[in-house]
Amino acid sequence: MTENNSTLAVKATDLTKKYTRGDSEFDAVSHVNLEVPKGDFVAIMGASGSGKSTALHLIAGLARPTSGEIEIEGKAISKMSDRELTVFRRRRMGIVFQSYNLIPHLTAEENILFPLRADGRTVDAALLERLRAFWEELDLTNQLSQYPDALSGGQQQRVALARALCAEPVALLADEPTGNLDWTSSQNICRVLDKLNKEEERTILLVTHEPAVAVWAKRIVVLRDGKIAGEFATREFRDAAELAARYQEIARASASR
Ligand SMILES: Nc1ncnc2c1ncn2[C@@H]1O[C@H](COP(=O)(O)OP(=O)(O)O)[C@@H](O)[C@H]1O
Ligand SMILES: [Mg+2]
Repeated sequence: MTENNSTLAVKATDLTKKYTRGDSEFDAVSHVNLEVPKGDFVAIMGASGSGKSTALHLIAGLARPTSGEIEIEGKAISKMSDRELTVFRRRRMGIVFQSYNLIPHLTAEENILFPLRADGRTVDAALLERLRAFWEELDLTNQLSQYPDALSGGQQQRVALARALCAEPVALLADEPTGNLDWTSSQNICRVLDKLNKEEERTILLVTHEPAVAVWAKRIVVLRDGKIAGEFATREFRDAAELAARYQEIARASASR
């Protein structure tokens, strides 16, 4: 089903990224087509090396595809210059990684507001009030004046999430956001993502290899050797173990093709 551009947050068409290994070329991402309507919550799953991070980085405009096109809210990012893309990314994309990438000499609040400040935006009282209400939901109110090294991993990732969302991006793109966290902190981040999606209709594209994280999404896209091996909705699954079984089945079926 092809949706109208205005209802699609992300559209990737025939996306391919070639890398060289030794002296041969291979497709880290191979002819991937993906549509993420606004309000969707998609998890890209796949084994290590299946091309998940490469695909997400291409969609985030952090790397350029060898061929293919990415549209964000109907705008083709390959047509943008590096400078235009940098500004577009700061204004329209929210990106979080496994490592929280906070600036150590800035407080949590200064880290969160950094993209707005870098964009020359004034953070007036009304905006700050709105943002503080959201930080309260993230349970960050008592951490705002602290520096990253005084925060737990879960707190740092919630700061990174707040930072990614402060400019109201089209979509939140997250690459293994729970990869460095213990079970409880990981599930807490998932609960935040679930709430953002359900209550605020935030569009989320999440990369993970963990069924217990992916089960929070609405839809799973399985990558294998850079290609989409299958897709399924999560609503039919009661728990992560059932989802893991379905995921393995798709990965195996594509391996024997
Ligand atoms: N910058 C790069 N140069 C060459 N090969 C790369 C580069 N980045 C990733 N790869 C290779 O591309 C494949 C996909 O990597 P990646 O997207 O990181 O997978 P995943 O995130 O699923 O673990 C792997 O074989 C990896 O070694
Ligand atoms: Mg990866």
